[in-house]
Amino acid sequence: MSTQSQSAGEEVVKVEFENGVAWVTLNRPDKRNAMNPTLNARMHRVLDDLEANDDCKVLVLTGAGESFSAGMDLKEYFRETEAKGHIAVRRAQRDSYGWWRRLRWFEKPTIAMVNGWCFGGAFSPLFACDLAIAADEAQFGVSEINWGIIPGGNVTKVLADLMSQRDAMYYIMTGETFDGRKAAEMKIVNFSVPSDQLRSRVRALADNLMQKNPATLKAAKDAFRRVVEMPFDAAEDYLVVRQESLNYLDKTEGRKRGIKQFIDDKTYRPGLGAYERD
Ligand code: ACO
Repeated sequence: MSTQSQSAGEEVVKVEFENGVAWVTLNRPDKRNAMNPTLNARMHRVLDDLEANDDCKVLVLTGAGESFSAGMDLKEYFRETEAKGHIAVRRAQRDSYGWWRRLRWFEKPTIAMVNGWCFGGAFSPLFACDLAIAADEAQFGVSEINWGIIPGGNVTKVLADLMSQRDAMYYIMTGETFDGRKAAEMKIVNFSVPSDQLRSRVRALADNLMQKNPATLKAAKDAFRRVVEMPFDAAEDYLVVRQESLNYLDKTEGRKRGIKQFIDDKTYRPGLGAYERD
């Protein structure tokens, strides 16, 4: 595993490469990886760099120590920024919302590995990742109500998209915590596993994704996020056009090769796995 060199500000996010996976670790364990302005600004650069780096084929987002992220940093993101005034607040919001948006539309597949505490604002990067696996023992909470705010940073919208109305309202209004198993039951994460298996299960999922055509993966994940917000006929049309643009963008002509390897060469079965890429 190789680690990127670090300079000022970079220590709050650690990036390690391992056979195609970029493990991106929010790295403020003493503060339970609460997201402060330094971390939010740093994440923009991390995402820019990884998008252009061929050593990153799948991005995994996780947290150092016992926490995924304790949400926004109440001292640095809220109190200290608000003390600087309205413009500082807007700038801080742009930085945090901005990197979550970048992550949501990241060029490569993304997996959230929820290793521990996941509170409030942390639901935004969680949702931004295409897939999510949690430790059974991880603890989630929409804790905003406990200190007198509503779930902003689009967390309310995230919950509306991911959860049933009853579950979302229950956790928004009570601020109760729930564990990784419950998160999986409510479909906030794909599944949960005991914490000692977490990394290997994420690795196996990343290996699966790496067998797929990367251009198709990008088109498929974007298409899903787009069509959930479209009327039926618009979605139907969009998907035709999106596939046709993929035919142009995929210089490997994966679609033709997939058909050939099944119909002519008989070397694989598309129902059971991916075609052979170079
Ligand atoms: N913002 C700022 N500092 C934080 C945050 C946070 N969100 N979370 C933890 N910290 C700091 C603590 O102030 C403490 O700092 P100190 O060592 O300088 O005193 C340190 O991290 C460790 O925190 P503890 O509370 O001592 O750690 P513990 O393991 O006992 O508890 C827990 C962990 C449950 C995560 C607790 O820290 C907590 O409740 N944090 C806040 C969670 C939260 O509600 N986040 C905001 C969500 S709302 C939003 O994001 C908009």
